Amino acid sequence: MHGPGMPDHLPQTAREVHLAARPQGKLTSEEFRLVEVPLAPPEPGRVLVRNEYLGIVAALRPLMDPESEIPLPQFALDRPLRSDTVGRVAATGVPHIRVGDLVLFRGPWADYADTTEATVLDPAALPEPCYHLAIRNGATALLGMRDIAGVTEGDTVLVSGAAGGVGSLAGQIARRLGAARVIGTAGSAAKCRWLVEELGFDEAIDYHDGDLVTRLRAAAPEGISVYFDLVGGAQFEAAVECAADHARFAVCGALATRAGAPWPRLDTGTAVVKDLTVRGFALHHGWHAFTEWTPLFSHWLGEGLVYPHTVVDGGIEAAPRALRDLLDGRFTGNVSVRLG
Ligand SMILES: NC(=O)c1ccc[n+]([C@@H]2O[C@H](COP(=O)([O-])OP(=O)(O)OC[C@H]3O[C@@H](n4cnc5c(N)ncnc54)[C@H](OP(=O)(O)O)[C@@H]3O)[C@@H](O)[C@H]2O)c1
Repeated sequence: MHGPGMPDHLPQTAREVHLAARPQGKLTSEEFRLVEVPLAPPEPGRVLVRNEYLGIVAALRPLMDPESEIPLPQFALDRPLRSDTVGRVAATGVPHIRVGDLVLFRGPWADYADTTEATVLDPAALPEPCYHLAIRNGATALLGMRDIAGVTEGDTVLVSGAAGGVGSLAGQIARRLGAARVIGTAGSAAKCRWLVEELGFDEAIDYHDGDLVTRLRAAAPEGISVYFDLVGGAQFEAAVECAADHARFAVCGALATRAGAPWPRLDTGTAVVKDLTVRGFALHHGWHAFTEWTPLFSHWLGEGLVYPHTVVDGGIEAAPRALRDLLDGRFTGNVSVRLG
């Protein structure tokens, strides 16, 4: 296959990963297909990008189903999956975007991709290009902790799913907003150690280990004043039991429900007696956090905030395995696949 009119220094084809079949439960390799497609020079208004990093997040999984509540288009059969991507412009049809510019866009799982949606990044703003992929999870963590839960001096904050992309930033942000105590839950002893030793959580609880309510009461004897919920299920119900009076719950995700657990029950009797505020939120209702994120992130990195991230090597063909490993809990922090 040859793309018409491609300059000699650029490839004639791109490799894309397509959705080959709708998943039936747990992902296998059957749902993905590597496909070669012709490349053409970008039309006016478009840029051709040599992708460097592809963001891998849990929310990609529901987008593989015929429908979901995620406010992004579902993936179509025999079309590429799509992720937040950072890359360098290889050819441009946009006057203000130059060849070599570092850009962020939501694009196909591909080594090269053509887009109308590239946002030009300042390469000096963050230490490495893959740090720019923190924007969606970081803005979500910021929005939830600061604007939804209103974390302030002295709060006792619990974060579930704390070793994941959003949670590992959310706990550190709570500390910077003045939380007195930050507790996380995660799925293994190694992840719990990492949360305490590397990210500065005060305590981390493996949710597989014994009765969660007893362990939470021991970790927060005065009760939890803020709960940042990424998991739902039994962890949400335990947090209600262990909440202090006037606690605020920022409900962000439902990792356990996605893994097959029922939606949690809210014991409204306890919610009334404790004067709980339980507020769901989504980044698409709080885009201001998106624009605020990068300068704040840069500032906090300078003050010692850790960007917890895992980079998977192996090119575009490594992306399906990376998504499966992420969903199986094999990684910590934000995950990206390095393409070039
Ligand atoms: N509201 C919004 O605007 C917004 C924005 C971004 C993300 N989200 C949602 O927030 C949630 C977290 O996103 P993320 O990107 O941080 O996730 P992530 O990093 O992709 O989380 C993966 C982690 O989830 C944990 N997990 C998997 N199954 C679990 C279960 N049954 N119970 C508890 N933990 C489980 C695993 O860690 P362990 O080994 O610790 O179990 C795994 O490593 C997702 O539901 C996502 O859709 C919402």
